[in-house]
Amino acid sequence: MSKKITKICCIGAGYVGGPTMSIIAKKCPEIWVTVVDINKERIDQWNNANLDNLPIYEPGLKEVVGETRGKNLFFSTEVDRAIDEAEMIFISVNTPTKTYGKGKGQAADLKYIELCARNIAKIAKNNKIVVEKSTLPVRTAAAIKSILDNNGNGVHFEILSNPEFLAEGTAITDLLHADRVLIGGEDTPTGREAKDALSKIYEHWLPKERILQTNVWSSELSKLVANAFLAQRVSSINSISALCEKTDANIEEVSKAIGFDSRIGPKFLNASVGFGGSCFQKDILNLVYIARTFGLQEVADYWEQVIILNDYQKRRFADNMITTLYNTVSGKKIVVYGWAFKKDTNDTRESAAIYVVDALLEENAEIVVYDPQVSEKKIYADLDYLNTRSPAENRRLLKVGDKPIEITKDAHAIAILTEWDEFKAFNWQVIYKNMLKPAFVFDGRRLLTTGSMEEIGFKYYKIGQK
Ligand SMILES: NC(=O)c1ccc[n+]([C@@H]2O[C@H](COP(=O)([O-])OP(=O)(O)OC[C@H]3O[C@@H](n4cnc5c(N)ncnc54)[C@H](O)[C@@H]3O)[C@@H](O)[C@H]2O)c1
Repeated sequence: MSKKITKICCIGAGYVGGPTMSIIAKKCPEIWVTVVDINKERIDQWNNANLDNLPIYEPGLKEVVGETRGKNLFFSTEVDRAIDEAEMIFISVNTPTKTYGKGKGQAADLKYIELCARNIAKIAKNNKIVVEKSTLPVRTAAAIKSILDNNGNGVHFEILSNPEFLAEGTAITDLLHADRVLIGGEDTPTGREAKDALSKIYEHWLPKERILQTNVWSSELSKLVANAFLAQRVSSINSISALCEKTDANIEEVSKAIGFDSRIGPKFLNASVGFGGSCFQKDILNLVYIARTFGLQEVADYWEQVIILNDYQKRRFADNMITTLYNTVSGKKIVVYGWAFKKDTNDTRESAAIYVVDALLEENAEIVVYDPQVSEKKIYADLDYLNTRSPAENRRLLKVGDKPIEITKDAHAIAILTEWDEFKAFNWQVIYKNMLKPAFVFDGRRLLTTGSMEEIGFKYYKIGQK
């Protein structure tokens, strides 16, 4: 097996595959990097001459793509060819929660992973290192290995687990300054050689001591556990935000007070309308499913509570809006600022906004959404996917605006559901004038200042504060 990798391929040109491979291409100019996907539209967007039309919005991404694309970074739909040519193949396809059959609503759907493994087995004519970049249930590598070894052309496959820890919105910085890189592989001569080969790629820009080598199962499990711990912190502080609203305590002061404890630390202690994104919920559900599969009921119940609390927080926010608006939002215009699940991304998967708005639409509210990066098409697709009402009804009750100030004309209330920086810079005086009185603002991201909002005249509700 070649030690020095010169050609790699990544299957899946999504939020992980695209940015990760762009950075590898930038930092390893001698390596030829091809990112492939079956989604032609996505590949066309990655190849678009105008870098503002890349399929993913991430600060700093277009600069890196602009520097490397066409030199040693390529985007293509020719999956088989890329597999054939590569010495190392990253699998970076989506692993959503199953929506059917056994484990429905909890287990990870591994059909895309299995398709990739079968395809690699069919195409490969020489030894390959196969890297799991997707987040996978512990022991998936064994399944991939079995598929590869039983369907392959007699070549040797070495499977590595190399989970990705980047966060959307800060993907490029996270990749460039990763806290750690995890490489799981077998403790055999070829396994160790493969781990070293992958480590060498990362050593182009990261200190070796931050590249941890483990066994495959620890690596797979660590990714699920990291996300579970992060989400747990959000749910923990959100549970306290509900208590603050009842008791006159202030969540910001509580977060600061506990965050000063070096054992707790200050990060991930911001109360909000709830976490979203493609990963936290999916990965916890996965952990819960695995624990149940092994008969560990208490372990499963413990982690499931993190999701239950998150759902509660979104529902609580919507309920509070309805109650405050005199127990009815029917026919009332409500402006929603933010649809993405967090700032600096156009990703909306599991965004809290979807669920809060769905609850308000159930009460016949008239919604107008503004988000600086999310398209109208995506917003309707997210709502239609819930299947709560007909697509026609969604389009009747909800409109999407691109003029954030003008859309507040005659609105009863504004809900801030994503923490985009630009919302802070809005002219809130003008917004106040535009709105019906009393003018309500429900700040689900704790973005604005109570004093100045109240001074303007708003009835201002900030999550975690009475
Ligand atoms: N998004 C994140 O922030 C993040 C962070 C860390 C880890 N992860 C994990 O990384 C994995 C990928 O996540 P993502 O957000 O990039 O997903 P994504 O949906 O953005 O991208 C996945 C891509 O894989 C493609 N694909 C699916 N099957 C294919 C096949 N057989 N051949 C070629 N292409 C195929 C899809 O068309 C899609 O473009 C998931 O397992 C996720 O849990 C995601």
